[in-house]
Amino acid sequence: IPVDSFDLVIFGGTGDLARRKILPGLFRRFRSGQMPAEARIIGAARSEMDDAGYRQMIREAIAEFGSEEKQDTAGIDAFVERLHYVAIDATGEGGWHQLRDLMRDGVIRAFYFSVAPSLFGALAERLHQHGIADASSRIVVEKPFGRDLASAKALNATLAEHFDESQIYRIDHYLGKETVQNLMAVRFGNVLFEPLWNSHYIDHIQITVAETVGVTGRGSYYDKSGAMRDMVQNHLMQLLCLIAMEPPSIYDADTVRDEKLKVIRALQPVEPHQIVRGQYEASAEGPSYREDAENPRSFTESFLALKCHIANWRWAKVPFYIRTGKRMKARSSEIAVVFKDLGHTIFEGDTARHRNILSIRLQPNEGMDLQVTIKEPGPGGMRLVDVPLDMTFADALGPDQDAPDAYERLIMDVIRGNQTLFMRGDEVEAAWAWTDPIIEGWEARNDVPKLYDAGSAGPEDAMMLMHRDGRRWREIK
Ligand code: BG6
Repeated sequence: IPVDSFDLVIFGGTGDLARRKILPGLFRRFRSGQMPAEARIIGAARSEMDDAGYRQMIREAIAEFGSEEKQDTAGIDAFVERLHYVAIDATGEGGWHQLRDLMRDGVIRAFYFSVAPSLFGALAERLHQHGIADASSRIVVEKPFGRDLASAKALNATLAEHFDESQIYRIDHYLGKETVQNLMAVRFGNVLFEPLWNSHYIDHIQITVAETVGVTGRGSYYDKSGAMRDMVQNHLMQLLCLIAMEPPSIYDADTVRDEKLKVIRALQPVEPHQIVRGQYEASAEGPSYREDAENPRSFTESFLALKCHIANWRWAKVPFYIRTGKRMKARSSEIAVVFKDLGHTIFEGDTARHRNILSIRLQPNEGMDLQVTIKEPGPGGMRLVDVPLDMTFADALGPDQDAPDAYERLIMDVIRGNQTLFMRGDEVEAAWAWTDPIIEGWEARNDVPKLYDAGSAGPEDAMMLMHRDGRRWREIK
């Protein structure tokens, strides 16, 4: 179903994100018929260029970063016709009149701020000064949204001078992932899970986002951030919220976000012994973090594992273990809900510990499986065995060639005016309020990350974090 017609201005339209993700993604929506044929995309950046130059740049970007759709030359020809370019001076006056003259009336106006956060204020101000944005316009901003509570508050305040919260779309691309949304469908669309979704039946929850990539080429950004700011404060926090939130009374943007906010606010502070920071060192699998980041003295963490608690009735005494890292042994992201042991077994001689585990796989092989206990087949008597009830979405539903990726889906949501999958300002601030003291603690102690081999499952201490509690991480495979 096509969305309403729009003019989308991408500030930073020649940048990495625009070329890698935003424009190839929009091309896919164009091909699928979801982007209306007369919608327009206007790249805006500092360099001098004309429409033809920009169209050529985006052709090349699609050839480099697109997937099978890059063969569709007729489609690309039609798509690039929808592109325009304005050379703009974000902090000066150049280009703003041209931009205003380009914008059409009667269509949705959206502005993607794919630029450094220090420019948000200047852009927002000029959009208003020149009468380009109005009360129905939308703006899209990317992470990093601040680097601590104070800077996030300042950014929110800057945006709030010119835009209402209902116009601001803060992207966390994890919320656009199919399985992440499925988490809500599974929890609130089935009778099976929700009654068990609490401290009476759940032993603990594990969230893992393991990546095989290092930080090559992004060292200058990453080395100042580390895993806490880059992944935990946003992506992993969002996953935790969706797992832990109370059922919203309806599926609507503010109702869902109100429930997520309550989770973040109920997160207890984390003690230093409940956290392990790691940094990869060189191995046969790859170079060290310090080489990748080009900082021989870096103490930035490329891995983080922590245990936290949510102080509310539903989750009393249920630990949440989360971990994420770069250059790990496999690219694998999973949420595992580990249920409690049976209180009593009626099967004589069965000493094994049987547990139900619901595992939700984000990537690769998006899907879910539920570990259940059954009788081992054959004549051997009543012997029990654990097997997975597996549902790989591609097997169950057939591969969906047209499935949008996270960015595409979220950009279409901006045009539709649906904020459910975007972070609200208070959520972002609450998340920083929780991470700030942890980071300040490391800084005060000059914390040194534990080393782990590139291509491994992370530092030994991260294993111990679980072992001490008599639990084990799920295997990364
Ligand atoms: C980004 C982080 O937000 O998410 C990257 O800045 C990380 O460091 C990426 O690699 C992971 O996204 P995905 O979709 O590949 O899991």
